[in-house]
Amino acid sequence: MIIFGGGGDLSARKLLPALYMAHLHGNLPADTRIIAIGRKDFSRDQYLTFIDEHSRPFVDSSALDKQAWDRFLALFDYVRIDVVSSSDYANLVAASRPEAQRVFYLATSPELFTTICDNLAACGLVNEQSRVVLEKPLGHDLASARAINASVGQYFAESQIYRIDHYLGKETVQNLMVLRFGNAIFGPLWQAPYIKNVQITVAETVGVGSRAGFYDQTGALRDMVQNHLLQLLCIVAMEPPVSLDPDAVRDEKLKVLRSLRPMTVSDIARNTVRGQYTAGAIGGEPVKGYLDEDNVPPGSRTETFVALRAHINNWRWANVPFFLRTGKRMPKRRSEIVIDFADLPFSIIPSGPRNYGNRLIIQLQPEESIQLQMLAKEPGSGMHMLPVNLNLDLQQAFTGRRAEAYERLLIDVIRGRLTHFMRRDELEAAWTWVEPILAGWRELDERPRTYTAGTYGPAASSALMAHENMSWAEEM
Ligand code: BG6
Repeated sequence: MIIFGGGGDLSARKLLPALYMAHLHGNLPADTRIIAIGRKDFSRDQYLTFIDEHSRPFVDSSALDKQAWDRFLALFDYVRIDVVSSSDYANLVAASRPEAQRVFYLATSPELFTTICDNLAACGLVNEQSRVVLEKPLGHDLASARAINASVGQYFAESQIYRIDHYLGKETVQNLMVLRFGNAIFGPLWQAPYIKNVQITVAETVGVGSRAGFYDQTGALRDMVQNHLLQLLCIVAMEPPVSLDPDAVRDEKLKVLRSLRPMTVSDIARNTVRGQYTAGAIGGEPVKGYLDEDNVPPGSRTETFVALRAHINNWRWANVPFFLRTGKRMPKRRSEIVIDFADLPFSIIPSGPRNYGNRLIIQLQPEESIQLQMLAKEPGSGMHMLPVNLNLDLQQAFTGRRAEAYERLLIDVIRGRLTHFMRRDELEAAWTWVEPILAGWRELDERPRTYTAGTYGPAASSALMAHENMSWAEEM
């Protein structure tokens, strides 16, 4: 495994800890070697010290074992390459075993993907056995995504390309497929008119941290919605695939992306909300506003929050709004999908709540649970009803270890399993829908609405749902 960006943040915090866990549990092939590539002039020993200092803190302490850690470090080499300098690649050729099967992990800025692939091919390191892993963001718009796909596609067949969206590696996201396609009970109800709306929320408490250089150019729509939230929407909305084969699953997801109703500028004004956090408090601790974060340009208009209403133009979902929402500096870290079932057609129980609809709440993180909200009779005389939950706590149901998303996806790459990676046409379809929203925002030329850190976004986000007599799950 050859990791470009081996001295970067993603490698240190996510990839190397995930590889250690895979190694600890015997999931790396016996003769694995890991070559980290970076620009810094590290010796091998200096790089091992870097891993000790920067990756070890991200390994769960209960999993740290001195011998296993030392054996893990023994897998590593470090090769210094300035990726734009073609002559530097000779260092990699010299370090690489000629007969090895190679996985190239590109954990660098996407602007470098083309150059890296050109150089790898030129120095003869790419063959039909090779695999390449591409980290997000894959481009900043449709044209740049296409350009990356085209240049990587010159050297790697689609079946050799693993486009990572780490949400697809989460246990709970994979479990969504089982909830839908392993249980017959929801099948007949999983469509209009039995579902009133679907809500997908990915709320984070963290702010932009030290990533303003990247984030300010990106914003929440590109960073989260274009990939993670749309992938969740696909799994909720897709038709049953004929099998779990990668292309069978990805064909169905693609159809959903292609059925997303394009938004005109007036739709964008009505159906989207952009927000930016101002100073506030999270868990009782004061936090800065976005404009006061390090390296955020004065007056930046980058959104740290998005809420939007999407529609899927097909039979199953006609007239069912999908509300998507994500933001930084929300009160709680909480990712969930809420399926809001249709209201009771008629209530024979006069004291019951009006407009009551059952809700299926699928919590993805931090807790993994599935709740079905129903009405039950409060004990006592009379027919007083209250909502209660049928509650499935997946942590209690399965007490075994949960692998992190990156560990699971890295093992998939090693074993050649593509189901949980994005195909080229999926990525381009997602950009095709998202790009007009970015263009519409530029045309509308409005500042993002502010929201106080520690709240669920601007008031306009609640209004988006209230217009349709609906409300976000936490506002019920
Ligand atoms: C990344 C985004 O893809 O996902 C980050 O770039 C975000 O901005 C992160 O914080 C969220 O991932 P998770 O797994 O913590 O929900």
